[in-house]
Amino acid sequence: MTAVSLRGVGKAYGDGGRTAFAALRDVDLDVETNDFLVITGRSGCGKTTLLNVATGLATPTSGTVTVDGVEIWSITDAARSGLRNRTMGFVFQFPSLLPGLSLEQNVMLPLEFSHEEHADTRERARELLDMVGLGHRLGARPHELSAGQQQRVVIARALINRPTLLLADEPSSDLDEETEAEIMEILRRIHAEQALTIMMVTHARQLVAFGTRHLEMVDGTVRENAQHESPSDPAAPA
Ligand SMILES: Nc1ncnc2c1ncn2[C@@H]1O[C@H](COP(=O)(O)OP(=O)(O)O)[C@@H](O)[C@H]1O
Ligand SMILES: [Mg+2]
Repeated sequence: MTAVSLRGVGKAYGDGGRTAFAALRDVDLDVETNDFLVITGRSGCGKTTLLNVATGLATPTSGTVTVDGVEIWSITDAARSGLRNRTMGFVFQFPSLLPGLSLEQNVMLPLEFSHEEHADTRERARELLDMVGLGHRLGARPHELSAGQQQRVVIARALINRPTLLLADEPSSDLDEETEAEIMEILRRIHAEQALTIMMVTHARQLVAFGTRHLEMVDGTVRENAQHESPSDPAAPA
């Protein structure tokens, strides 16, 4: 099964004339269900643009993007945001938690926006915070946490909608090395334990080993690297 498919996708910034800048050039990409795809590339190569175009946040200039079998740029804005809310969770470089809300409330927030709050929402929020190691801090406010802990809350929040696709844009780039490894380990574990496709972009090549597949971006183009196995970790569930 293919979770996300791009065909001939281009994205130009600017007026489309001589000053246009091609951030994506003729990208063909299939993200298979249950991949933990890590896309690396230096700053400015188009990683964020690629994620935005693939998830319906930025319009491609050419080509087609298919998510869960739906061509997302040929449906209405409302249908596209509906698909995004139902199927995707997002983790960005800087944690964006609401300062006035508790961790638990922050995690539950996406469901309030989608009007899908259920009786078990609070329970699910607690489970997710537990899963990221913050089950004992439900009532804490974001400012009481370290950056790495805040990013763990963001991961929990990204999963509250039970997405099938988790998108991560430099999720650990603002963290020290040790905390970065903790965040990546959480993502790796979530990927192993849940039926989840992860697409992560980062400039940090050392993170490739956490994924199941690696692609490299250079100047708006994407190329496959030799597929590699996940690092064997005896403590990890099979
Ligand atoms: N809104 C924009 N307008 C014009 N150029 C942009 C815009 N967003 C990004 N770019 C340019 O497109 C290229 C790719 O940007 P981006 O996707 O953010 O790269 P990355 O995430 O790999 O750092 C960069 O050269 C950047 O300057
Ligand atoms: Mg970026």
